[in-house]
Amino acid sequence: MPKPSSRSKLINRRQALFLGMGAVASVGTTTLAAGLKAPRNSASLPTVANLQQRSFAVASDLPLRQQAAAKGLLYGAAVLKSSLMNDPEFSQAFARECAILVPEGALKWDSLRPAPDKFNFTDSDWLLAYARQKGLQMRGHTLVWHHALPKWFAGTVTPGNAEKMMVEHIQTVAGRYAGKFHSWDVVNEAIALQHGHPQGLRQTPWLDLIGPRYIDLAFRTAAAADPNALLVYNDFGLDYDTPWESARRQAVLQLLERLVTAGTPIHALGIQAHLLREDPKFNPSQFQTFLREVASLGLKIMITELDVTDARFGAHSTERDRQVAAVYEDYLTVALGEPAVIAVLTWGLSDRYTWLAKDKDRPRRDGLPPRPLPLDAQLNRKLAWNAIARSVAHCPKRN
Ligand code: XIL
Repeated sequence: MPKPSSRSKLINRRQALFLGMGAVASVGTTTLAAGLKAPRNSASLPTVANLQQRSFAVASDLPLRQQAAAKGLLYGAAVLKSSLMNDPEFSQAFARECAILVPEGALKWDSLRPAPDKFNFTDSDWLLAYARQKGLQMRGHTLVWHHALPKWFAGTVTPGNAEKMMVEHIQTVAGRYAGKFHSWDVVNEAIALQHGHPQGLRQTPWLDLIGPRYIDLAFRTAAAADPNALLVYNDFGLDYDTPWESARRQAVLQLLERLVTAGTPIHALGIQAHLLREDPKFNPSQFQTFLREVASLGLKIMITELDVTDARFGAHSTERDRQVAAVYEDYLTVALGEPAVIAVLTWGLSDRYTWLAKDKDRPRRDGLPPRPLPLDAQLNRKLAWNAIARSVAHCPKRN
């Protein structure tokens, strides 16, 4: 897989930063000078306010995988082995719509590591075999994260052995699938400004036990274990125009910049895009600026976990679906307008299987099942599906 590189743009951006021009200078003239077009569509974006007048008509009913492929993009979704194995109807829809599969849980530590000296690859091997049989690519999620650690972790992993444990984990897991995965989320969710670390790093067992260099070490180990996979830093809370998310975007950019400058083998930013807001404070030009800043570092971008929580939207499902679709389309119009964005993955394909149904933090007060994904619980295409198809249809073709 060709690795992105853009040294001249990177130097331009760094020069701007060193001149103290901050976030504005880091894109503005530098990326525009590098030949990128002016903001696309951002002024004319329809808003939730004129939702009733919005058309979600599509020109093509080809599966999303084909529509995306025609633009040089990948569309895919996260999935549990159980859904594919036990639900042939769902499996058929999944293989029809998706070009890339990401295991929703099977590659997390608590799934792979029943005991400190044991690995259990049953589910991830099954998912890879499924993907290959259906002609789908596969991506890995995730090698280093503070969640989904096994129960034995706290009592076993110490400052004395943490580095060895992390490195051996990455060598074993990324090594097993070397040459077979499109990409890996190497480090997931490392930024949490509220934790007070000078670099904005989240207080995680990995930071506590190894120190800030754990991130670079994880990427170098992954690159050695699987030289072909696109190596991704993945995080959430990068989407909206709020002080909290603006600060997170800056912290992520600074992290990416430190890594790129240090020669860390990182190739892409994964933007989770769990879209949550009741009144989405989505600022197209601000989000576009962020994407350009990431691209100016020579990195690709993947939208890795897209879904739209409808917990605060009205009860009527037709109305809810319009609101959800509007959020999808407004977001993806901007995201796909940036040529560095190479893939869109939703966190699930059908409302039949969504983590939001079991997430205790985000239930609907009326108890109705959530409708956050492109297909409904009967596997019918919803307006969210149309919204994805429409933003793909309107985006520039990748080379
Ligand atoms: C979620 C899964 O969807 C759930 O099934 C599981 O119980 C918890 O994790 N960000 C991530 C994903 O990076 O790994 C999370 O997945 C959702 C939030």
